[in-house]
Amino acid sequence: MGDTGFEAELKQRVEYIEGVLKSGLPKEEGYAKTVIEAMNYSLMAGGKRLRPMMMLETYRLFAGDSADDAVIHPFMTAMEMIHTYSLVHDDLPAMDNDEYRRGRKTTHAVYGAGMATLAGDGLLNLAYETAISGAALGAKLSEYDGETKNRYLAALKVLSTKAGIYGMVGGQCADIMAENTDITDKDELSTLLRYIDDNKTGALIESSLMIGAILGGASASQVKAIEKAGNNVGVAFQIQDDILDIVGNLEELGKPIGSDEKNQKTTYVSLYGMEAAKDKVKELSDEASDILKELGFKDSFLDKLFQYLIYRRK
Ligand code: IPE
Ligand code: IPE
Ligand code: MG
Ligand code: MG
Ligand code: MG
Repeated sequence: MGDTGFEAELKQRVEYIEGVLKSGLPKEEGYAKTVIEAMNYSLMAGGKRLRPMMMLETYRLFAGDSADDAVIHPFMTAMEMIHTYSLVHDDLPAMDNDEYRRGRKTTHAVYGAGMATLAGDGLLNLAYETAISGAALGAKLSEYDGETKNRYLAALKVLSTKAGIYGMVGGQCADIMAENTDITDKDELSTLLRYIDDNKTGALIESSLMIGAILGGASASQVKAIEKAGNNVGVAFQIQDDILDIVGNLEELGKPIGSDEKNQKTTYVSLYGMEAAKDKVKELSDEASDILKELGFKDSFLDKLFQYLIYRRK
């Protein structure tokens, strides 16, 4: 896009988030040292940090000037840990069987499949421990006169639900089951694909925005609206990922291309073609921006980020 002001701000935010993540890393010591090393290897390998970034931004938008970032830090870390675990497992030989991630060898390629499985398990559990500890510490929340009784508990519920069988794990299940599918009916395939994208990718992005909104003091109807925006951006993000799996390159992406064809995945591109996929990314992202506009967040950093992601190359 060439908006250097935006890109500089993006870089600054990534650095800020990495600082938050670093402060929550487990120490590499004791008999569990190897699994902890594998966890830290995958977590600190780089990555765009979009989910914690979206969470922080949504939190600040709703909490306003009274925002204490200490409220959201543990949830940002938890979200990036859950996302990273999903990537570590996604690359396993028994899943997508890919060797590169975030610009270097993926976790199982360095530590073996057993240790990568455990690193994923470790990250998932540490994510909950981190978020629960943050909630228990209970940094002061912004003023709120809405209907949610305990905002910390509500955020924890969203975090756990959207990562599991009614979210990311469910989507990953359907993604595997749809490999080399014998379903030929286009409507049926279309419904299945939407479930996959809603869940394997949409869910964690919805969750990121919703947690930011809940802890920032959004009303129930505002949380619903932000969930929809997250779904739009999440599905657009996955379609763009599927596009880049064909037209991207390893150097820029930091992960192999051709993974979907290799695994005979059902994707938006395989079903509707490249041009339709590009149009869909734009359409969904614009709808998300419209929702932000209705919430009074037009031209916020979050809105600019949604628009920026339409043209991402990595
Ligand atoms: C990759 O997510 C997996 C998908 C859901 C498409 P990202 O593209 O956000 O990966 P990182 O965190 O930047 O490595
Ligand atoms: C995976 O989708 C989404 C996850 C929940 C990890 P992909 O399998 O397309 O993600 P990449 O391309 O390996 O990052
Ligand atoms: Mg996959
Ligand atoms: Mg994959
Ligand atoms: Mg992909």
